[in-house]
Amino acid sequence: MAIDLFCGLGGWTEGFLAEGYDCIGFDIERHDYGSGGYPAQLVLQDVLTLHGSQFRDATCIVASRPCQAYSYRAMPWKRAKALPPPSNELFDACFRIQREASAAAGQYIPLVVENVKGAQPWVGRAAWHYGSFYLWGDVPALMPHTFRTVKVEGSNFHSHEKTGKPGGSFQSAAVEGVKVSGLAVGTFPGGGLAQGYLDREGTKNGKDWFGSGDNCSLQRRASSLSSARKAASAQIAKIPFPLAQHIARCFKPEVANVA
Ligand SMILES: C[S@@+](CC[C@H](N)C(=O)[O-])C[C@H]1O[C@@H](n2cnc3c(N)ncnc32)[C@H](O)[C@@H]1O
Repeated sequence: MAIDLFCGLGGWTEGFLAEGYDCIGFDIERHDYGSGGYPAQLVLQDVLTLHGSQFRDATCIVASRPCQAYSYRAMPWKRAKALPPPSNELFDACFRIQREASAAAGQYIPLVVENVKGAQPWVGRAAWHYGSFYLWGDVPALMPHTFRTVKVEGSNFHSHEKTGKPGGSFQSAAVEGVKVSGLAVGTFPGGGLAQGYLDREGTKNGKDWFGSGDNCSLQRRASSLSSARKAASAQIAKIPFPLAQHIARCFKPEVANVA
């Protein structure tokens, strides 16, 4: 069984389900933007209120607390730099839960925590990163790489920088394009950020990226924009399948026993 803390749309869980795990996800919100939402058992509960002893039977724990507090402070703006240090409470809670789970199990239960690069000044150096997904905790020694991709002008496809083939292997959300109501959302690592593109390290880049000219009333527009924004943010925060599956494989009991 895998425990997915701050499970969101269930990026981690998708990888673990594919490897045959049972999964339980914890979140304070049910995220469903039309594609079914979290794909396993969802418990709506604040992670801060969890006691790890309830996870004594877990094989491993994965966690992705919200990144906005860290992302914003990493922005090159005076206002962001002037903010007080962010709270690490949610980050620290993951390690507390792991300690409690391990103590109750009488054996070590591994934990992998994911967040953004901008978290490093506050929580210490990450052990690895997969595109813009930075990892702390029990990160396996052998980890997959991502490839940089570049945007193919005039299209929503990205090409593999090495092969130039359209689409590429599309391995990281850092290079994923997500279309939301006619709006392209994505980042171009190394290539800068296009106007109107949402960045995982920030929340918004470029001017008026939701566009304008909607005929609806202001209120309706505001609510549809905020749900589009939420859907986009949830999609961008979602752990890429190859990363989730790799971690799931590494901690799979049969594999661990052979190793
Ligand atoms: C970065 S997203 C997780 C993304 C997820 N790993 C995925 O692959 O889709 C963070 C999630 O934490 C949830 N959240 C925020 N504060 C929480 C809390 N105190 N307890 C539980 N969930 C929380 C948010 O609703 C959001 O879904």
